[in-house]
Amino acid sequence: MGTTQHDTKKLKILVTGANGQLGKELRQLEKAWPQFDFLFLSREDLPIHHFELVRQFFAAEHPDYLINCAAYTAVDKAESEKELAYQINAEAVGVLAAICHQQHCRFIHVSTDYVFDGKAQRPYTEDDTCSPQSVYGASKYKGEQLALQFDPDCIIIRTSWVYSLFGKNFVKTMLRLLQEKPSLSVVSDQIGAPTYAADLAEAILSIISANNWKSGIYNYSNSGQISWHAFAVAIAELQHSQVPVLPITTDQYPTAAHRPAYSVLDKTKITETFGVPIKDWKESLARCLSFCTFSA
Ligand SMILES: NC(=O)c1ccc[n+]([C@@H]2O[C@H](COP(=O)([O-])OP(=O)(O)OC[C@H]3O[C@@H](n4cnc5c(N)ncnc54)[C@H](OP(=O)(O)O)[C@@H]3O)[C@@H](O)[C@H]2O)c1
Repeated sequence: MGTTQHDTKKLKILVTGANGQLGKELRQLEKAWPQFDFLFLSREDLPIHHFELVRQFFAAEHPDYLINCAAYTAVDKAESEKELAYQINAEAVGVLAAICHQQHCRFIHVSTDYVFDGKAQRPYTEDDTCSPQSVYGASKYKGEQLALQFDPDCIIIRTSWVYSLFGKNFVKTMLRLLQEKPSLSVVSDQIGAPTYAADLAEAILSIISANNWKSGIYNYSNSGQISWHAFAVAIAELQHSQVPVLPITTDQYPTAAHRPAYSVLDKTKITETFGVPIKDWKESLARCLSFCTFSA
């Protein structure tokens, strides 16, 4: 590293995919973390699959940290766009890792609970066997492997069910449907833990500021475990909506990509290593909804 936490020079943090949910939540935190000099780059600013552009950018900017929020996240579409999903979620991640390694830039990459097959009966630890069941999950798993191969000093954060008031996500879809439909039917046999992207953004910055870098894979989500149906019911309740939310099975809601039936992540490692707090899923949901302009 060219600089340390104790130098007077501000640490330069590059954020790729900065117009996504996580990228925008990181932008929201910029003022609260004045010790960092952020460079937010959207897909248009820096397409991570344009390797020469990425190389030139790093050579010119010399960032101290890279937070890669760029990803191909269209889970169902990925089934028919395998090549593109792998290009962005795997190949480009390997190149980012190699450049970070060469340039002594610390690399934080974000991955997913969809690397697991969902057959577990207890929360997944970082060491559990990965067996992705979808193209998206497999492309993200390959990205993890390439990141670790080309930059063994990197940190990978696996997260699940990410939502925010920015971008496309389950919470925003439910808020819209609660206004449009007389009743909703939501899958009740897939269990996981939601992650408010604002909490994940805070967790990432607290890892950087902890000045206690320990490479490897870490799980992060909000605490608790619920079904998509229970999540939708909570959204409706917090919005004081009277629209009935009915449970259905995965078989009644077929999708192109297979999703894990169970994907709760064990957060012990990230808490013990970096002291990252794990916030309650319902409190985070309420906080997110308190910023929203939708009404029941
Ligand atoms: N969303 C979830 O439920 C979830 C769950 C588990 C893990 N994750 C992981 O969490 C991370 C952040 O996810 P998110 O929810 O913030 O995703 P998101 O909202 O879909 O944002 C991804 C961003 O990446 C950008 N992007 C796509 N291809 C790119 C490229 N080639 N070069 C540069 N930027 C590119 C997109 O640009 P455009 O805005 O132009 O499309 C978008 O702004 C991802 O690694 C994702 O795999 C997400």
